[in-house]
Amino acid sequence: MQEIDGRTKLAGLLGDPVAHTKSPLIHNTLAQMRGDNLVYVPFHVKQEDLMQAVKGAHALGLIGLNVTVPHKSAVIPYLSGTDPLAKAIGAVNTLVYTNEGYWGYNTDILGLREAMRRAGFSIEGRRVLLTGAGGAARAVAFLCLFEKAAAITIANRSVDKAEALAQELQSFAKDHPDQVESIPAVAVSLEEAAKGAAGEDLLAIQCTSVGLAPKADACVFEENAPVFNSIKDAVDLIYEPQKTLFLERVEKRGGRILNGMDMLLFQGVIAYQLWQNEKDTQIHIPEEILGCIGEKLSKKQ
Ligand code: ATR
Repeated sequence: MQEIDGRTKLAGLLGDPVAHTKSPLIHNTLAQMRGDNLVYVPFHVKQEDLMQAVKGAHALGLIGLNVTVPHKSAVIPYLSGTDPLAKAIGAVNTLVYTNEGYWGYNTDILGLREAMRRAGFSIEGRRVLLTGAGGAARAVAFLCLFEKAAAITIANRSVDKAEALAQELQSFAKDHPDQVESIPAVAVSLEEAAKGAAGEDLLAIQCTSVGLAPKADACVFEENAPVFNSIKDAVDLIYEPQKTLFLERVEKRGGRILNGMDMLLFQGVIAYQLWQNEKDTQIHIPEEILGCIGEKLSKKQ
């Protein structure tokens, strides 16, 4: 445990609930291993208290906050500014202290980008098959737009939600030619996607909650679905279990796989670095520290 004195910096998490968060493990281990005089504490904050919590944290000088469910979008009006990608997504998970107020970032998505970069899973120029159309899928869809995917197929149980997301990507690109170029975005049902209709050499990013522990025996596609022959690289945002049935099925057909564990680690590391005024989102934390935290996260499951 960090020794607390008059110079200890405080960071925290705002969420409801917060009881099962792994963020204190990431940040307090980082602080200890780097020798930073910083403590990270979760705060259980109800929706109706969110504004006061953000203003109060700023008044108390907390150097940064993470924000989790259900506050990731609701917190945006209380910020002094928002990073462009986070603004496009409409959700932030990291607040960084400035004199005027907190600045919002989405390090979930920056963490995914870093995890994919390290695994050699590039997005640029790839045909992407995205499963899901909820909050996580939305963030990933915008990442694909910003990272210049060649095309994106959004497959979801409720096709209308996939259609709305595909529409939004198109509208955003049309309204923000200074930030992104338009890419083809289509919506399909999971059944249609299972036929392999989205193309060849796909980068598949699984963003539904299907296969999440304790219901780990589920997968968005049947075992013998033709689409598995078209998936070259697959990411599943789920990290519990470490290998979902989806990833298992991709791997069996010779595809490369990546789970959500490094995304979890890097969203934390990038947030921590932002709090330490390292704003370039490159990872500066030594590999041995990253490895140690990664191991702790895996053991904590
Ligand atoms: P998150 O913020 O993690 O994205 P969410 O917004 O609740 O969570 O979205 C959950 C996603 O998982 C949705 O795409 C949902 O599909 P629907 O839009 O049709 O609800 C998908 N999902 C959840 N349970 C599912 C199931 N049993 N089969 C197929 N898709 C499922």
